[in-house]
Amino acid sequence: MYFTYKSLEELEYDIAERNLAIAFEERLEAVRKPVQIGGVTLGNRLGIHPMEGCDAEPDGSPGELTFRRWRRFGGGGAKLIWGEATAVCPEGRANPRQLWIHKGTVRAFRQLVDETRRAHRETFGDDHDLLVGLQLTHSGRFSWQRPILAMHAPTLDARTLRGDGTGATVGPDWPTAGDEYLQRLEERFVEAAVLAAEAGFDFVDIKQCHGYLAAELLASRRRKGPYGGSFENRTRFIRNILEGIRSAAGNRLLLASRVSVYDGIPFVAHPVTAVGIPVPVPLPYVDGFGTDPDNPLHEDLDEPLRLVEILVRSGVRLVNVTLGCPYWNPHIGRPYERPSEGGYLSPEHPLVGVDRHFRLTAAVQRHFPELAVVGTGYSWLRQWCIHAAEGNIRRGRVTIAALGRGAIAYPDFARDALGNGKLRSDRVCLTVGFCTDLMRRKDHPLGQSPTGCVPRDPYYADIYRGKAPRKGTHGP
Ligand SMILES: Cc1cc2nc3c(=O)[nH]c(=O)nc-3n(C[C@H](O)[C@H](O)[C@H](O)COP(=O)(O)O)c2cc1C
Repeated sequence: MYFTYKSLEELEYDIAERNLAIAFEERLEAVRKPVQIGGVTLGNRLGIHPMEGCDAEPDGSPGELTFRRWRRFGGGGAKLIWGEATAVCPEGRANPRQLWIHKGTVRAFRQLVDETRRAHRETFGDDHDLLVGLQLTHSGRFSWQRPILAMHAPTLDARTLRGDGTGATVGPDWPTAGDEYLQRLEERFVEAAVLAAEAGFDFVDIKQCHGYLAAELLASRRRKGPYGGSFENRTRFIRNILEGIRSAAGNRLLLASRVSVYDGIPFVAHPVTAVGIPVPVPLPYVDGFGTDPDNPLHEDLDEPLRLVEILVRSGVRLVNVTLGCPYWNPHIGRPYERPSEGGYLSPEHPLVGVDRHFRLTAAVQRHFPELAVVGTGYSWLRQWCIHAAEGNIRRGRVTIAALGRGAIAYPDFARDALGNGKLRSDRVCLTVGFCTDLMRRKDHPLGQSPTGCVPRDPYYADIYRGKAPRKGTHGP
């Protein structure tokens, strides 16, 4: 157990002992300030990260639980709702219950936006300063039907299951996505963005993080042809998509992207201690984006900063900075107390992970002071995360602070923070990984369990224990 602090002073003391630069501010002022993003005003500096509930209908439209989650987010008070991973094509879905936007589901997405906005208006009277977006994705090597690789990388291939139930992994003969496939996929992203505009979303995020296809392309130094090798080639996919959306949707949509600025390398559990250890990789390690080839346990932000420059030039007005890959090195992306099932004990104090998030995000913000940069990695700080958000915003280290796990535990965290000046310790996320456990469960009639917050939401506690959800726990 890492989180044992009885007061903010104790936490600050520990941070100082570890020589970390996480700063808190008690009085919440900066988080309340509106901010202009591409001509739109966002009413406060608090956001909700994309959080998949794995609860879509088989055709990709939002299901009952998707509506429930989004309504809760809408009524929660955060002014930036960054809608979750939504596939642009069926073969790119990460699981059979991932959202998928297409002509047949666009009406349901419209309803999702309407209900989210209505929930916000019902609580706050007005929604003109609320931004609701959708994350568009292709799951690449994590596509559930069969892995679709951007590149061959021996370290990653050795851990990528073929998805045929045999437990075999992909080998060097496994096909990579062809150039024509990627060209067609660019069009799918553009079509999906146009549909998202039709559905009433304010922005679309072209997802380039967590090891999914567009993120893997950024690291595809070994790939031959127009999408691999040079930095110019590796950024072709995202440039083409952004250009395509700009010409198809004009200024109907704000452009956004969530980027892993540091991929790192896979970790595995030590056979005796179960503590995470990095897998041995040959040096220089060339298969990670933002990853120092000579010391892949450390970041190298040279290319990520060049990427952000391209994004800004291509019209992106919101960049959400994230790290790592949940399948290879979950402690990097989501600092935690307890690993999810089959995972490893954190190899570092979670504060080190929080500090890494804040530090790398601050580096991006420093290079692009005018850009709306959204920060990640707050949830482990529990009730004090909001004061770290205040600390970072005041110091110009981030524009908007958002919660991921913290938001499914406590969807109305922003309302409490802004109304009472603090968060309730009995509602915050405990970072104990049950949401990820549920996400990995496939023994469900639809091939995928829905997920949510097990400790804080009785509906999911029942699902976790294999019981039918209790009556009355399903309401808004
Ligand atoms: C259950 C679950 C679902 C998630 N879904 C998404 C997603 O759809 N898209 C995405 O970019 N990140 C997703 N994430 C990552 C979170 O958005 C966030 O980056 C991560 O939890 C770290 O932030 P936190 O410390 O505030 O939780 C998910 C994480 C969890 C645990």
